Amino acid sequence: MKAYVGMDIPPKTIQYLNDNVSRPEFKYFAVPFANAMYNPTGVPLTADATLPGGDEPYDLIVMQSVFTHFNPQDFVALLHVLRRHSASDARLFFTCFIDNDMESDFLDSVPDKPLLMAYYKESFIRRMLGCAGWTPLALYAPSNQMQHQFACTPLPDIEHAVQYFGPCDFGQWESGRRERYV
Ligand SMILES: C[S@@+](CC[C@H](N)C(=O)[O-])C[C@H]1O[C@@H](n2cnc3c(N)ncnc32)[C@H](O)[C@@H]1O
Repeated sequence: MKAYVGMDIPPKTIQYLNDNVSRPEFKYFAVPFANAMYNPTGVPLTADATLPGGDEPYDLIVMQSVFTHFNPQDFVALLHVLRRHSASDARLFFTCFIDNDMESDFLDSVPDKPLLMAYYKESFIRRMLGCAGWTPLALYAPSNQMQHQFACTPLPDIEHAVQYFGPCDFGQWESGRRERYV
């Protein structure tokens, strides 16, 4: 492996990794992004945000139990950010909670603990992936250890994807509610 980059919000975790899991090819960075559960006072995550770690595109991105705590606007914003930072043949692997029997596309299921458990409809995730320039290669069923798992790769032509899937505006969502409010 040429390089491994780890990112998360808590600066203390990043400091610990830099102090204790240090290898020349490993780098760790704190990111400032807001999240209702993990970083309520952070910087809003937008589609044009940049990631630390240098200009080299990523070949493999793994996010286990991260979108599980994302609302739709942050989900799609991060998909855009990751797409821009990815090699053309990259792989994106992430886990998420899927419930296709819900009335809504998204449900923040524990209202008094915002984004503790965010549920999505599969079709909605596929739309967000498409309009952010990703195509799913596989969706794996959950196991005892893991939620649903998506494996994706960049679509070659992002302009075409946007035309096909429509604009990436999925509205604003309020924690703990089923309805879209803007
Ligand atoms: C349930 S933990 C999963 C941690 C680890 N991936 C694992 O599988 O054990 C969710 C992680 O997502 C991180 N997180 C939440 N929002 C984030 C954001 N906007 N940007 C980066 N990391 C975020 C949290 O800080 C937390 O470490």
